[in-house]
Amino acid sequence: MKIAVLGAGAVGLSIAARLSSLAEVHAVSRPQHADAVTRLGLRLTGLWGDGTYFFPCTTGLPEAEYDYILITSKATQTRDICEQFGDRFGNAAVVSIQNGIGNEEIISEYTNNVIGGMIITGFEWRGDADIQISVIGGDAQFGLFPGGCDERVTTLARLFEEAGIVATATDSIRSAIWGKTIYNAALNPLGAVMGVPYGALLNPYAWEVITDIVQEAYAVAGAEGITLEHPEADEYLDYLHNVQIPATFSHYSSMHQALSAGKRTEISFMNGALVTKGVAHSIPTPANVFITRLIRFRETMGDS
Ligand SMILES: NC(=O)c1ccc[n+]([C@@H]2O[C@H](COP(=O)([O-])OP(=O)(O)OC[C@H]3O[C@@H](n4cnc5c(N)ncnc54)[C@H](OP(=O)(O)O)[C@@H]3O)[C@@H](O)[C@H]2O)c1
Repeated sequence: MKIAVLGAGAVGLSIAARLSSLAEVHAVSRPQHADAVTRLGLRLTGLWGDGTYFFPCTTGLPEAEYDYILITSKATQTRDICEQFGDRFGNAAVVSIQNGIGNEEIISEYTNNVIGGMIITGFEWRGDADIQISVIGGDAQFGLFPGGCDERVTTLARLFEEAGIVATATDSIRSAIWGKTIYNAALNPLGAVMGVPYGALLNPYAWEVITDIVQEAYAVAGAEGITLEHPEADEYLDYLHNVQIPATFSHYSSMHQALSAGKRTEISFMNGALVTKGVAHSIPTPANVFITRLIRFRETMGDS
């Protein structure tokens, strides 16, 4: 089996490493990571076990027929990746393993073989070819996009399982993607704007903002016909407050890290996507509009 991983960073290189003993894997990364992985191997530590993995990792994609092409860049780069490599997609199943709403829709413009993915694991850079797995929050999920499940999906989930990455196949991947996006939309931007870890967001004033963001998100999800694991906003808010935030109490959001590094965030694929979908359904989303504007404001200020 041949697998390409495009936009391989913390998530993509870790997955490429674990799959590399089961399939022919080729990762496409930036030069500093490609050079380090080629010279030193990819070092993985933490909850997936410790080890060093050697596999082909370059800045370009060799001509070949791939069975699966995994896109693991930030959502902000999905379109660029599709523009750069879309003519190589061939008959491969192209799989988004990213956060946010909108990646699969972009990939669908370049191929009909789209598998949606959701992963709820923490990957942290320790060096150019050194990554720590810090949290496993549940199963990775894969499903045909926008819905359904077939043999390619179940084969992929089984391969991940064999590689030691807990994964399940689902026929409603949009539910998994929306569920994770609502979690991200609730915590990431507010944590980033305030410069605090998730635990600080249990503050009653912060919680009022989060409640508004989540209630609006649920209204939009309902209009989109998405069935969420926690069907009611209030039930999910209880779970967020009592289970999810305590489990990641000291964690700073990736959006906080992106802003601190003067990088663009994935806000357009999170709260921004909820706003856009809300407009399409004539559902007001003022809390999401406001927090999206604050993040865009911070983005335009760079790392100051
Ligand atoms: N990290 C986590 O714990 C985690 C957990 C779950 C989900 N996610 C999601 O998974 C996705 C990937 O996150 P990540 O943390 O792995 O991001 P990341 O570490 O920034 O990895 C993406 C890598 O792809 C590179 N890239 C982008 N376009 C490329 C191209 N055309 N050719 C070669 N390389 C390219 C980026 O380089 P540049 O930075 O130079 O553009 C970056 O090194 C995001 O949607 C994220 O929200 C992350």
